[in-house]
Amino acid sequence: MNLILLGAPGAGKGTQATKIADRYGIVHISTGDIFRANIKNGTEIGKLAKSYIDKGELVPDEVTCDIVKDRLTWADCTRGYLLDGFPRNLFQAQELDRFAEIDGVVNINIDHKLLLDRLCGRRVCRECGESYHVSTLGGKTVCARCGGELYQRADDNPETVASRLAVYNEQTAPLIDYYEKRGILLNVTGTEAPAEVLFEDVKAALDKLLA
Ligand code: AP5
Ligand code: MG
Ligand code: ZN
Repeated sequence: MNLILLGAPGAGKGTQATKIADRYGIVHISTGDIFRANIKNGTEIGKLAKSYIDKGELVPDEVTCDIVKDRLTWADCTRGYLLDGFPRNLFQAQELDRFAEIDGVVNINIDHKLLLDRLCGRRVCRECGESYHVSTLGGKTVCARCGGELYQRADDNPETVASRLAVYNEQTAPLIDYYEKRGILLNVTGTEAPAEVLFEDVKAALDKLLA
């Protein structure tokens, strides 16, 4: 099963991705995580990516597509994969069609009014990548899953979030239509649902796809 997770910044893609990967035994591939790992390791790709991510803009398509194309050749992808944060525009979607076959696209719909608070209050585990929100941490600074240190992403500030949302609306939202027309879009609504509840809907949609 090869899947794409679509949704605005802060919609809960990463949160659902961990659960989907665990449950269905497929590999979670997040282009954002790949870029952040490169930034941390000081690679050339990391330096380039940082200059775009800090402004909330997309990293150039050529670089991003090459990374994904290569990543999908790794042995762990043969059992299936879940793309989180890719494709992000029409060009990337068309490129992906040249080197991959996608079975389903999970689109997380969310009221955009919630996103600023979610993103600016987010804390992420340095070790395992789990996301938390300050409002539920009760002052804790370590990960409940693995004890890793929690940090705030550099692009989770009001200015950068505003430009990430604008980029989403202009460039990524049209992909909903793209996959809808192909008949592989699975819509779920994340607005009222806590992550565990939303995952029930995601599971129902994916189990139907697999049946
Ligand atoms: P990326 O890392 O993909 O970030 P994003 O798309 O902005 O999405 P986020 O990771 O911020 O949100 P999420 O949907 O994963 O939400 P999460 O589960 O963490 O990309 C970052 C940058 O990299 C881009 O801006 C771009 O520059 C570059 N990039 C990446 N891919 C690229 C590509 N293909 N092409 C070009 N450039 C690319 O949840 C958010 C918060 O909400 C957390 O606090 C969480 O605890 C909370 N939460 C989650 N679910 C729920 C729920 N159901 N109820 C209540 N709270 C919830
Ligand atoms: Mg994410
Ligand atoms: Zn952790």
